[in-house]
This record gives sequence, C-alpha cells and structure tokens, in this order.
Amino acid sequence: MAQVAISTRLTERLQIRHPVICAPMDNIAGGKLAAAVSSAGGLGVLGGGYGDEEAWFEREFGAAGNQRIGCGFITWALRRKPELFEAVLVRKPAAIFLSFDDPEPFASRARAAGIDVFCQLQTRADAERALDCGADVIVAQGTEAGGHGGSRATFTLVPEIADLIAQRAPRTLLCAAGGIADARGLAAALMLGADGVVVGTRFWACEESLVPAPLKLAALAAAGDDTVRQRLFDIVRQRAWPSRYTGRVLHNDFVREWLGREEELAADTFQRERYRAAAKAADPQIAATIVGEAIGLIKSIEPAGVILERMVAEAERLLARGPVIAGAGP
Ligand SMILES: Cc1cc2nc3c(=O)[nH]c(=O)nc-3n(C[C@H](O)[C@H](O)[C@H](O)COP(=O)(O)O)c2cc1C
Repeated sequence: MAQVAISTRLTERLQIRHPVICAPMDNIAGGKLAAAVSSAGGLGVLGGGYGDEEAWFEREFGAAGNQRIGCGFITWALRRKPELFEAVLVRKPAAIFLSFDDPEPFASRARAAGIDVFCQLQTRADAERALDCGADVIVAQGTEAGGHGGSRATFTLVPEIADLIAQRAPRTLLCAAGGIADARGLAAALMLGADGVVVGTRFWACEESLVPAPLKLAALAAAGDDTVRQRLFDIVRQRAWPSRYTGRVLHNDFVREWLGREEELAADTFQRERYRAAAKAADPQIAATIVGEAIGLIKSIEPAGVILERMVAEAERLLARGPVIAGAGP
C-alpha cells in the first residue's frame, strides 16, 4: 500500500486517507466496489439508483462486509419510496448522497440521525438551496459527468461554488465531480477549490463494478467525443426524470436511430420490449452504456484500489512539483 496521502478537510472530516469518493452509480456501484474503494483509503458509496428493489440494498450492504461505506439516492425517485431511506439510515452509512431534486426532507432527516449529507448538484442556485438545507458536503457535478446531470462545466462550476461556500458557509465542504479520472483531474480539482473528488466513470471501468463485460469492452474503445447527453434511455425505460436533467451515455445504434425522434419513441411500445431484451443481453449497440467524457482517458480495466492509489500518488507529485512540461528538461 502506498504511503502517500493528500490531506484535506474532507479526509479529516470523513477519517479517510485519500480525498477520493467513488460516485453512487445506479445499480453498478455495489458493495464490492464500494468496499474496494473504502479499503484502499477512499470512500465507497452504493448506487441504489431508483430504489426499485429493497433487496438490492440488503444484498449490496452485505457484499461490502465490514467496510465503512456511504449510500446514494436519486432524490426524486426516493420521494416515491421514503421507507427505503429509513431502512438505509438504520444501517448508519458513513454518508448519504442526495442527487437530483430538492434535498429535503431527507437532508434534515439524515443530519438528525448524525449522518453526513452530500448534496450532488449542477448549478449555483442548487448550491444555494443545499446550503439552506445544511448540506455537510456539496458535490458540484459538471456536464462532463457520466449519467444524469446538467449543462454547467466542472471547470467553472467548482470555483464558483467554492467562492459561494467561502462567503456563505465556510465550514461546508466541496467535492468536484465530472471528468475526473486520473491524477491530473484530482490535482486540478483541488486547485479549483475542492476538498475532494467524486469519481464515477473511472470506477465504472474497474474490476469490481457490476457492469456487464460487453459494455466495458465497448467503452474502452471509445473517445470522449463518443458520448452524448440525451433523454432517449429515460423515455424507453419509462423513467420519469425531471426535464432539467439529461443523461450522458456512449453513442450507439439506438441513439443514432432515435435522437430527435423522442416523441415517436415515447409512443412506441415495441421499443420498450426491444430495449429490455437488449439490456438483459448487454448489447452495447442498443443498451445504454452510461459513461462520461472521461472514458477517453481510460485504457484498461483494473482493480479499484490500483486506480485509486495511482491517482493519489501521481496527484501528490503534481501538486508538489507542478506539471511536467514535455521537452522542458529537469
Ligand atoms: C453508470 C453511472 C451511473 C450513475 N448513476 C448515478 C446515480 O444513481 N445517482 C447519482 O447520484 N449519480 C449517478 N451518476 C453520476 C455520478 O454520481 C457522478 O456525478 C459522475 O459519475 C461523475 O462524473 P464522471 O463519471 O466523469 O466521473 C452515475 C454515473 C455513472 C457513470
């Protein structure tokens, strides 16, 4: 295990070695991945997604064993099943992530139970609201991110929210999310004013994630150019996402066929069946491969711990010495 450590307010607050959090990712960030990240010195977080299956939480908390992990929720979906929240609070997770939609009443409920609340958001207005709700950590998610999100870019959103926090609630912590997949991203995020990073796509493409192998393979061949923000997969899966959020996925045949024909797709019941079958078969040309622009930086599937240790060790070097400019000499 590497001896390097980058200490920040986040590592102190969460009592972790590295300021790196594995993003909650729907049903692919399960207990094995969360435990691997926590065991390597970061913090793993269960996805949980739409909360369709209470058994999913049961199983994946079990798969994490004794590791300290957090748990994520898609807030608008949780509103339909608040009993799930209570069932998770009883487990005393290391943190609760609330993403997409207003954090209340869940933020207050978690804080009353003594659990740190992370609000993942996409705009300055969302950040103002999260501060009103007493968020312990704001996760500023830029549009580069895999999965659902908004249109602001990480590079400007993070420092703007860092300034807002400094002015309004300096004890609140800040994490950057969206496009962070290696040491450069981690070092840059800290320079932008973040106390840590939330990493999704890089951990999606690791050994412990619950991603079917054909989707991982398809993604490794992709460049950042090959991703697109769209609503097609929410339409065909009948997920009632609020209209402000779009989802970033890999371009594939399904996207090519339906982009711009959303209304037609919504009325086509055959496509729902076609999609369900393709998702079950992990067909990357029809099923959604949910990754962000950072996929263009990822060339191999490795264990989460290896990814994390390398990211931190190289970021420490970058932060100590600055970037190495090719050809500039020692
Ligand atoms: C496959 C996948 C599924 C995701 N599902 C969720 C989710 O269920 N809840 C959530 O809050 N965020 C979800 N996200 C977004 C992440 O929390 C995070 O913001 C994003 O992955 C960070 O950007 P990056 O992918 O460039 O690292 C998902 C991201 C991915 C890649």
